[in-house]
Amino acid sequence: MAFDLDMIKAVYAGMNEKIEAARKAVNKPLTLSEKILYTHLWDGKATKAFTRGKSYVDFAPDRVAMQDATAQMALLQFMQAGKDKVAVPSTVHCDHLILAKEGAKEDLKTSLSASGEVFNFLESVSTKYGIGFWKPGAGIIHQVVLENYAFPGGMMIGTDSHTVNAGGLGMVAIGVGGADAVDVMAGMAWELKFPKLIGVKLTGKLNGWTSAKDVILKVAGILTVKGGTGAIIEYFGPGAQSLSATGKGTICNMGAEVGATTSTFGYDDAMERYLRSTDRNDIADEANKVREHLTGDAAVYAEPEKYFDQVIEIDLTTLEPHVNGPFTPDRATPISQLKAEAVKNGWPTKVEWGLIGSCTNSSYEDLSRASSIAKQAVEKGLKTKSEFGINPGSEQVRYTAERDGLLQIFEDLDATIFTNACGPCIGQWARTGADKAEKNTIVHSFNRNFSKRADGNPNTHAFVTSPEMVAAIAISGDLGFNPLTDTLTNEKGEQVKLDPPFGAELPELGFAVEDNGYQAPATDGEEVTVKVAPDSKRLQLLEPFDAWDGKNIVNAQLLIKAYGKCTTDHISMAGPWLRYRGHLDNISENCLIGAVNAFNQETNKVKNQLTGEYGPVPATARAYKAKGIPSIVVGDHNYGEGSSREHAAMEPRHLGVKAVLVKSFARIHETNLKKQGMLALTFANEADYDKIRENDKINFLDLDQFAPEKPLHLEFVHEDGSKDVIKANHTYNDAQIGWYKSGSALNKIKELEAQ
Ligand code: F3S
Repeated sequence: MAFDLDMIKAVYAGMNEKIEAARKAVNKPLTLSEKILYTHLWDGKATKAFTRGKSYVDFAPDRVAMQDATAQMALLQFMQAGKDKVAVPSTVHCDHLILAKEGAKEDLKTSLSASGEVFNFLESVSTKYGIGFWKPGAGIIHQVVLENYAFPGGMMIGTDSHTVNAGGLGMVAIGVGGADAVDVMAGMAWELKFPKLIGVKLTGKLNGWTSAKDVILKVAGILTVKGGTGAIIEYFGPGAQSLSATGKGTICNMGAEVGATTSTFGYDDAMERYLRSTDRNDIADEANKVREHLTGDAAVYAEPEKYFDQVIEIDLTTLEPHVNGPFTPDRATPISQLKAEAVKNGWPTKVEWGLIGSCTNSSYEDLSRASSIAKQAVEKGLKTKSEFGINPGSEQVRYTAERDGLLQIFEDLDATIFTNACGPCIGQWARTGADKAEKNTIVHSFNRNFSKRADGNPNTHAFVTSPEMVAAIAISGDLGFNPLTDTLTNEKGEQVKLDPPFGAELPELGFAVEDNGYQAPATDGEEVTVKVAPDSKRLQLLEPFDAWDGKNIVNAQLLIKAYGKCTTDHISMAGPWLRYRGHLDNISENCLIGAVNAFNQETNKVKNQLTGEYGPVPATARAYKAKGIPSIVVGDHNYGEGSSREHAAMEPRHLGVKAVLVKSFARIHETNLKKQGMLALTFANEADYDKIRENDKINFLDLDQFAPEKPLHLEFVHEDGSKDVIKANHTYNDAQIGWYKSGSALNKIKELEAQ
């Protein structure tokens, strides 16, 4: 059902030749990351070496995964491409839009009713276009991917930053925006800047209270939240082989917290055991045939300094359990220093909640190790001081953990078992009293602990640690408790000590599940109708954007001259707007509302040239659009930095903006603008930014001769009748000019499809 053996066989079949070619091209032994990258080139063969951190390269990923929040716009766009079916195996996972409040049964019911139309939409599109659909309650995207789809040596993209979790099974798996997913599903190449490489050599062996989570908590402390940017982190060494596959997944998962493109491990016995245990003997057999290609060359690992851009070494034997936070995942504190740090910094030491779960730590092994601590609490007569919440990673994990009595152990501590979903990790936690914004502390096994992330309370101090440490600290109710050295007083008044955790890497009796929540697509999707209510507030089918009429744009109005930093959050804010991710017209009400107007230094207050009055950016844009007046946006440096969110390009396009002229672009946003049929232009002379006045009317002088490497000229007619002609550069190639002419990249694909 869930895996695609033929696709995997095809990937492995071509490996030998491709890796040989790549070795010749780069003229040195290869890391695992390079092997995977060079065997997934769009044009099939490595004929030249790429420069790390510089070359832009087209890749052909093997599969795509999407979660329910980001899948909405991705699929709405995919529907525009005119394809019958996705070009590569793809899946949708309903895990983000699920509440955590009362417990799995009630919460799932509430969520199905609150977001039912979104789930139904995702289900019908998936069924129609050949996409595997994982229903609400089936599990968290990255745990389900690890259990069913990840395979050593593969490349995948996913519309979620923790897609990187699949590195635990030796993949190069990368989080992207919806537009990138659409490209790959529509059969186009996917572009990535060839990453730099950070090698992490693991020696020794985990013992006692230390777990795989502590490796990444330590790495986060070393690299900080930006230290991995633009790089793949590759783990190797004897310590790496001693870790379970799901433990490796945990480490790769939080690579996102240091900004890494992704993280990965070489194929080993632990991965083979995991593949076999999750009913993928075929894949393990195939992987064994190409084992040498599924890890880095021995010469690389013998002298890593020669082949990686940076090398870190960690000895697992001496590694201490870590607790990172509050408010940032890179504030790493070894457990022995936590008490002193808490006192020094005034962090509340009373722990209110211990939460176990999230895509980072919700495997069978995680639950098993944490439950070994919980069990001791019961056996040793300890009363738990904090509340407990558990989100199993998948129905398969939940069912097996229930069968093996692990969940009962938590229930004996009055834990709430939430749905197999993201829950508190994505702020879907309806925590009682959070609105009072009281200063408090929680510990969790998640990846992110930014302010407000779990419960919306800016004063919740959230600390990230391993599931077993969450269990110990929550039982003690004290952030300063160090289970390695400290004792607790039990109900009889005795001093008791918790023994180190133990757990099963994999269930002894094998995994089991009754209904894993998977729904296969229709064999013939033609008959399937996609369900969207015309009056829906959350979903709206997209209309193709208009093609260019071939003429110069004339008499355009300046919508806003943005001052200073203008990120994708300024252009399309998140927070409450997430609700409208699948409704372009509704979400366009947040278009550029965070951008600072250069003329009055205020946000969301621009001059409407039709009335002379100041008003919100979206309303002003709509007023111009209603009168058929084109508009343009002017911006500063690195315009559109931040996320790869395609809404930041679609919204202005929807509201009638024709061009964005800036000092410089963040590259992904520039590409997104091009894909949506906009003109993304940069000042040839940055100082011309100052020439643009509030009441200008703008005429393009030579757009009708739009061609690669030929600057465009825009005439700004000022209120006093004077004019400035401004030269604007662009980076459109022939194919991208084709997108512009057709109105969008998707329109172009559709045209080609129809030919
Ligand atoms: Fe979900 Fe949190 Fe992971 S939102 S995908 S569990 S980071």
